[in-house]
Amino acid sequence: MKLTVVGGGYVGLTTGVCFAHLGHEVMVVEKIPQKVELLRAGRSPIYEPGLEELMHESLSSNRLKFTTNLKEGLEFSDVIFICVGTPQRPDGSADLSQVEEVARETAKLMTSYKLLIEKSTVPVNTHQLIKKTVQRYIKSPDIPYDVASNPEFLREGSAIEDFLKPDRIVVGVESERAKKIFEELYKDFNCPIIFTDPATAELIKHASNSFLAMKISFINMVADLCEKTGADIKLVADGMGYDKRIGRDFLNAGIGYGGSCFPKDVKAFIRIAQDYGLDFGLLREVDRINQERPIRFVEKVKRVLWSVKDKKLAVWGLAFKPNTDDIREAPSIKIVDMLLREGAKLSLYDPKAMENFKLLFPEGKGISYAKDPYSAVESAEGLLILTEWQEFKRADLGRVKGLMALPLIVDGRNVYEPEEVRALGFEYYPVGR
Ligand code: UGA
Repeated sequence: MKLTVVGGGYVGLTTGVCFAHLGHEVMVVEKIPQKVELLRAGRSPIYEPGLEELMHESLSSNRLKFTTNLKEGLEFSDVIFICVGTPQRPDGSADLSQVEEVARETAKLMTSYKLLIEKSTVPVNTHQLIKKTVQRYIKSPDIPYDVASNPEFLREGSAIEDFLKPDRIVVGVESERAKKIFEELYKDFNCPIIFTDPATAELIKHASNSFLAMKISFINMVADLCEKTGADIKLVADGMGYDKRIGRDFLNAGIGYGGSCFPKDVKAFIRIAQDYGLDFGLLREVDRINQERPIRFVEKVKRVLWSVKDKKLAVWGLAFKPNTDDIREAPSIKIVDMLLREGAKLSLYDPKAMENFKLLFPEGKGISYAKDPYSAVESAEGLLILTEWQEFKRADLGRVKGLMALPLIVDGRNVYEPEEVRALGFEYYPVGR
């Protein structure tokens, strides 16, 4: 099939690259020219395992094209995936102006059937607004079109795998014609395909992300209780997780969820409920607990070290999760900021996210960046772990101990087994254990 993907961010790029990999002809529209140049050269502006390899494959077989020109993209095919940004407004609601633009421009250009598909996370009933916009700008009321919702559930760091092997595919459609297109598009996928109306599909996406965020805030509160009572959060999560109704996934306690989705989507979902006259107090609490996590972590560091003023502390991990260079809403931002205010001298290391972090926290004024995890800990009086990269799990802790001025680890992600690290002579402070 010929497919157009508007928006070359995480979702758009992965969608485009994966559909091209599956044999479709894809044009990705991205409005930032430098990004398009990079993409045409086969380089990904984001770090995502496996993405560049698949890009090369499809670029060389000419199944994947990039353009800055929305018109060119919209003329390329009848099936248009809307993967543009839906950033958060100060009041928590989603800014849908980029979605509106795609709907409007498509309507102005259309001379024959088009299927407009929402892939970006949007508030329930956004499809109605898209339809209204198309009706307003379309040249003739006789030109047929459909608006569908096909939310994406991929995670950063495992985007390709999540896209190609999803747990389920959700499609919200209103016509047989649109349904047939999706059946053809996803015919080789070996997972349940759930056809619903568009409003239901839109809600499934927001409800899923909010539910997962709720699991994380829940387990984080239980972790606090474990710390007070001497119970072990890992075993509590395992013990709960064996119950199929609960499941073990997303029950890892830590310093809170970050990224471009959960923090924004939880707030947006609260706001959506509010717009319909409902108070989703449960989610307000999920959000509040999450916002407190970095504060709790810094309190713990201060409790352990008494004062952090002028102390050299190493920080391992800045990305909001492993296998990404993304630092959007990463707990590391708040933690680093608070520690700097307390007068700590920080030596930071992350395998992929340091360049992005430098834009927020340039070198100097209590901040330095290390070339590897070992140089970060040299003469440090504490090591703080903020992201659970494999590199840290595999680190030579004997060497780390030899390099540190004081062998002390405050681990925000439960990377190690407490007995093992303590046996090596570290003071070790994990989460909830
Ligand atoms: C999330 C969802 O998992 C995807 O299904 C969804 O498609 C995506 O948002 C989106 O809406 O685009 P993502 O934000 O990439 O994906 O990353 P997650 O793996 O969900 O992690 C989010 C945050 O939760 C991270 O900061 C992670 O460290 C934290 N987390 C996750 C925990 O603290 N504990 C856990 O047990 C799991």
